[in-house]
Amino acid sequence: MALDKNFLWGGATAANQVEGGVLEGGRKLSNIDLLPYGEDRKAVGLGELEMLEWQEDYYYPAQEAIDMYHRYMEDIQLFAEMGFKVYRMSLSWSRIFPNGDELEPNEAGLVFYEEIFKELRKHKIEPLVTIAHFDVPIHLVKEYGGWKNRQLIDFYTRYAETVLKRYQGLVKYWLTINEINILLHQPFVGGGIVFKEGDNKEEIKYQAAHHQLVASALVTKIAHEVDSENQVGCMLAGGSHYPYTCRPEDYQEAIRRDREGYFFIDVQARGKYPNYALKKFEQEKLNIQMAVEDTEILAAAPVDFVTFSYYCSRTVSAHSEDYEQATGNIFASIKNDNLASTEWGWQIDPLGLRNSLNQLYDRYQKPLFIVENGLGAIDTPDENGYVEDDYRIDYLKKHIEAFKAAVEIDGVELMGYTTWGCIDLISASTGQMSKRYGMIYVDRQDDGSGTLKRSKKKSFDWYRQVIASNGEVL
Ligand code: BG6
Repeated sequence: MALDKNFLWGGATAANQVEGGVLEGGRKLSNIDLLPYGEDRKAVGLGELEMLEWQEDYYYPAQEAIDMYHRYMEDIQLFAEMGFKVYRMSLSWSRIFPNGDELEPNEAGLVFYEEIFKELRKHKIEPLVTIAHFDVPIHLVKEYGGWKNRQLIDFYTRYAETVLKRYQGLVKYWLTINEINILLHQPFVGGGIVFKEGDNKEEIKYQAAHHQLVASALVTKIAHEVDSENQVGCMLAGGSHYPYTCRPEDYQEAIRRDREGYFFIDVQARGKYPNYALKKFEQEKLNIQMAVEDTEILAAAPVDFVTFSYYCSRTVSAHSEDYEQATGNIFASIKNDNLASTEWGWQIDPLGLRNSLNQLYDRYQKPLFIVENGLGAIDTPDENGYVEDDYRIDYLKKHIEAFKAAVEIDGVELMGYTTWGCIDLISASTGQMSKRYGMIYVDRQDDGSGTLKRSKKKSFDWYRQVIASNGEVL
C-alpha cells in the first residue's frame, strides 16, 4: 500500500492570519481581528480581558496580516508552482455577513472568494474550505455573547448555507469549524466568549460547544443536500497525550485529557454524545440546555472525514504539577525529555503523528486528513529573501515519513496533507510574524514593518519535488 495517486498534497492558511483588508469590501471586524500583539493577547483569547473595539496603544496584526486580500493572485501562482493539489483556506464570516445577523449576504465578500476559487481551479488546485476558523463577527459577540447563545446556530447556518450554494461546483471539500476543541482552552478565540465575574465558565464553554456541534451537524446535512459531491469534515486540534510514567493513574489522566478533544469528534463523527461526556455534565452539575430535536439533528449528519492539526504530542500525569512544564503550548503538558523542542518550546515528535493517525482511525474508521503540520521557526533571509531552512525541511520530512508509515504499514486511510502556513503568516497564539511556518518568505516583521514582498525559501523547491514524486523523494 503506497500513497494514493490522488493524494491531496498542499498547504493551509486561515483568513484572519493572511488576508488583512479587514474593513475593505464591506467587511466588518470579527473577534480575531481584536487580538492585540503583546502580553495582553493571551488574556483576550481566554475571554478574561474584554477587547471589543480597536484601542489606541495596541497593535493588531490581523489588520493587514500579509495582505493576501490584495495579493492572492501572486500567492496562488506560487502554490501552483509548488504543485499543490489542494489549498486549505478559510472564509472570513464577517466578509460575507459583516454583522452576522443580516438576512442578506455582502455580495462583495462573496465575489472575493469566488475569484479565489476560480483562480485555484485554473491551476487545478482543489480548495479545502474551513467555514469558521477562529472567526465570529464582533457584532455577534457584543449583542449575543458569541456561541454561548443558541441563536448563533441560525446565524452560522445561514452563512454556511449561503456559501455552500454560491460555491457549488467550485468547492467540494468543507470543514465546519477549525480546531473545535480550542473552544475549551481559548473561549474568545474559539467561540467569541467574554466572561463576566461569577460566570460558571465550564458550563458556558460546554453550552457553546453544544451549539457548535448542532450547527456543524445542520451544515453537514445542508452540504449533502446542496450537492451530493460535497464532503464535509470535522477538525480537531490533535496530538495525543502520553502518560508521564506507567503508573495506572497517569495513564488514566492521559485518557481523560485525550477525551477533552475526542469529545467533539465523537459527536461529529458518530452523531451522538459519548457517555463519558454526559456523565461529566451530571457529576459536575453542568446544566447544558439541549433542545428536543438536537439528538436527531446530531444523529442525522455525521461528518464524512476526520481532519486534525498536528504539531506535537503532550505528556501528562495525575500529578502534573510536580513536573517541569513544556512551554509555549496552549495545552498544558509536562516537558518530555525524550523529545527535542522548537524555539517556542513545542515538542517535536514525528512518531506521535503516526500514533495519532492510528488512534483516530481505530476510533472512527473514517478517512483522515492532516490539515495542519509544520515548524514555527526564526528564519534569516539573505539580501534576496532566500532562506536556507534545512531545519524546516528536516521537520517536515520526518513527519511525512511518519504518516507514510501509518498508511503503508498500518493501513490508515489518509486523504491528504496540508502543511500549516505554506506562506509565512501571523501566529495565532503570539501574533508574531517571526514565528514563521512558510515555504514562502514574506517580508513583514513583528511590528508591522516590511515590504510584504514574497520570496522562495529552500523548502519551496524541496516540497515541489516531494509533491511531484508523490512523497517518494524526501
Ligand atoms: C493551529 C491553528 O492552532 O495552529 C492555526 O489552527 C495556528 O490557526 C497554528 O496558526 C499554529 O499555531 P501558532 O500559534 O504557532 O500560530
